[in-house]
Amino acid sequence: MDEAHTVFSRLRRSISHPPVRPGTEHKRGWAAYENLVLHIHPRRVPLEALRFTLTWGLGGMCAVLFSLLAASGMLLLFVYEPFPDKAYQSVLTLQNEVPFGQLVRNIHYVSANFLIFAAFLHMLRVFYTGAFHTVRQFNWVIGVCLFTGILLSNFTGYLLPWDQLSYWAVTISTGMTEYIPLAGGWIQATLQGGDETGSHTLMVFFTLHTTVLPGSMIILMAWHFWRIRKAGGVVLPPSASDDQRPTMVATLPNLAVREAVVALILVAVVMATSVAFNAPLGEMANPGLSPNPAKAPWYFMGFQELLLHVHPTFAVCFIPAALLLLCLGLPYRRYDTPSGGVWFFSSQGKKAGITATLTAGVAVPATVVLSEYAPGLSGWFPGLNPVVTEGILPTVTACVALAVFTRIIKRRFATTNNETTLALFTLAVVSFALLTLTGVWFRGEGMGLVHPFAH
Ligand code: HEM
Repeated sequence: MDEAHTVFSRLRRSISHPPVRPGTEHKRGWAAYENLVLHIHPRRVPLEALRFTLTWGLGGMCAVLFSLLAASGMLLLFVYEPFPDKAYQSVLTLQNEVPFGQLVRNIHYVSANFLIFAAFLHMLRVFYTGAFHTVRQFNWVIGVCLFTGILLSNFTGYLLPWDQLSYWAVTISTGMTEYIPLAGGWIQATLQGGDETGSHTLMVFFTLHTTVLPGSMIILMAWHFWRIRKAGGVVLPPSASDDQRPTMVATLPNLAVREAVVALILVAVVMATSVAFNAPLGEMANPGLSPNPAKAPWYFMGFQELLLHVHPTFAVCFIPAALLLLCLGLPYRRYDTPSGGVWFFSSQGKKAGITATLTAGVAVPATVVLSEYAPGLSGWFPGLNPVVTEGILPTVTACVALAVFTRIIKRRFATTNNETTLALFTLAVVSFALLTLTGVWFRGEGMGLVHPFAH
């Protein structure tokens, strides 16, 4: 009994006063921080990996923004009520009666929008430095899933304030799912839970936004970080990685201090933006009065714009699915030189990328204007099914145009597989960005083309 008592009291003492190595008493607080950092990074990293322009700190920024979102989101949950008759009022209460409620809502809104930008730029950085080959292939796939998760999180959060803007944006976007062949009706019914956006829709979106999506993203992020570490850290330029013995430096403080500086600056920018601008909140949702134009959230405007030019099944299903599959499969294509670490791969890659940017810069606005003022293919072939005139024919035309573009690029710059892929990826990204800008700035009443300052 005595012995058991002695063991127990020793155990209790060692938990409340863990043994401290002589001379390290001052390090106790530091040790916890050191432990956290060294769970993510190795003890020592190559000197070259400290260069800011290698990654622009974008992946780390995504992690910081995600943490801000989680923290501010948890605070919002104390006040928000996910019911159609209470949601809007609870947001008003939060803004007008809860101390710092407006600021917390702004931080959540600003971080969410910044995260889309940061993740998109991070994806471009990874692509244009060729950091998705060999050991990093699967991490690109995890990244694409993370990006999809970010978009879905933004989209599901958009409905929660239950104002006119969010109600109609979500009604339009969920309405688009109807055009997905076979599963469309089921997806729409699951999301909407009735003929119109209502209490079931709000509960589904609330659950996805606060539980399913953040939970999945935390798991994906942990996997993403683990794979970065398994790959030996970030990709380095060949000069540094070919070196048999790169100069190594201690992670603490060298890398950790740099990361902390980037994180603090980012938090300061988010705070300043949240103080300067309020998150939008329109009138309370009115299911009987649709605004004109009724637009999707800005990050889905590219698809809504596409909807004006091609058949809905192609705009909301075939084209997004093809883009997603191509993006997922990008690292698994056969490349001539699967090395990374060089921006734009080579001078030929740079030229091919610039040509692709210019081509998209001319082709996309020209197509948008032409399809606004010229009769569409269905006008030329009135007897044909719209799936053929507005879906198959434009898609075949686009594929032929892509084949011609690829041939010209290959001939003109004698590109390798890497450089051709870079040109095609650039063409797709710039085209989609231009479609998004057109939808956001140049569409007015009835989704007609307008001058951006005419709103
Ligand atoms: C929540 C979203 C994300 C977070 C928190 C995140 C975080 C990070 C971090 C911290 C790094 C280390 C280097 C750096 O800072 O750039 C990294 C590398 C990487 N990320 Fe992400 N990432 C996210 C989304 C994505 C996306 C959307 C993609 C691509 C589709 C992607 C693909 C990769 C790849 C392949 C690497 C390895 C790059 C290298 O070794 O240089 N990540 N990520």
